Amino acid sequence: MPLRFVHVSDIHLLDLSGTRPWHYFNKRITGRVNLAIKRRRAHDERIFERAVASGIALGAERLVVTGDLTNLSLPSEFAHVKARLDALGLPVTVIPGNHDAYTRGVVRADLFEKFFGAFMEGERDGAPYPFVQRYGDVALVGVSTAVVSLPMFATGVVGKPQLERLDDILARLHAQGLARVVLIHHPPVAGVSKARHDLLDLAAFGEVIARRGAELILHGHEHRTLETTLPGPAGDVPVHGIASGTAVSSLPQRQAAFSLYQVDRHRVHRELYTWNGTSFAAAPA
Ligand SMILES: [Fe+2]
Repeated sequence: MPLRFVHVSDIHLLDLSGTRPWHYFNKRITGRVNLAIKRRRAHDERIFERAVASGIALGAERLVVTGDLTNLSLPSEFAHVKARLDALGLPVTVIPGNHDAYTRGVVRADLFEKFFGAFMEGERDGAPYPFVQRYGDVALVGVSTAVVSLPMFATGVVGKPQLERLDDILARLHAQGLARVVLIHHPPVAGVSKARHDLLDLAAFGEVIARRGAELILHGHEHRTLETTLPGPAGDVPVHGIASGTAVSSLPQRQAAFSLYQVDRHRVHRELYTWNGTSFAAAPA
């Protein structure tokens, strides 16, 4: 059985209602709060809703969001996103991004898990990540790169224990004949992100993929639509990034977009849809 799903990322739904961000954060963070308020103009939540509606009309069975669902990891933002995702009428899978782990307090309180745990239900090898969700011939493998970084930095780390679990999981799923779709917020390919936005252990992640392979790797973070590859044991593994699902931009590569995938154990098929200011249209193949 193939899986037909929509991939969006970096929706950055901002909600400051009923909250005073400066009550939650120290002064170091207030600059980020101002930045997020300014950035609000660059993101429109209604575009995300249109992307989901288009995906449903195209027969998608699931929505996959590869991180940065919030801006500041505020409790009000998590609650707002949760309510939106619950109301979509489509099952949802999420992984966290750097904006969803903005402060040590958020990570300690485990807000991402508390609000979005239901969207990450599946097999967990004694640790939250990677989690595995199986749908017919397809396994979604959710990796976390979300760590607290210094102001002006947006780096990510998978970490050695999670990489060891990923190695085992990819080998096991391959032996079971499943198509493996790895979800990771940061681009895992060298040279894609600036150093201060990068995945710090992407070489070690690449070694796991070179050893075990995967059928598809999906990421966000860069707010650009990208197609790269990583070497696998039986040829190149496609690595696809998608622009922000809410972006209002005059730059074509940064316009809001979503991908519609049909994946089974023999084939990965991607159709790209981009926002043209009034609707989503299929991008030329
Ligand atoms: Fe990000």
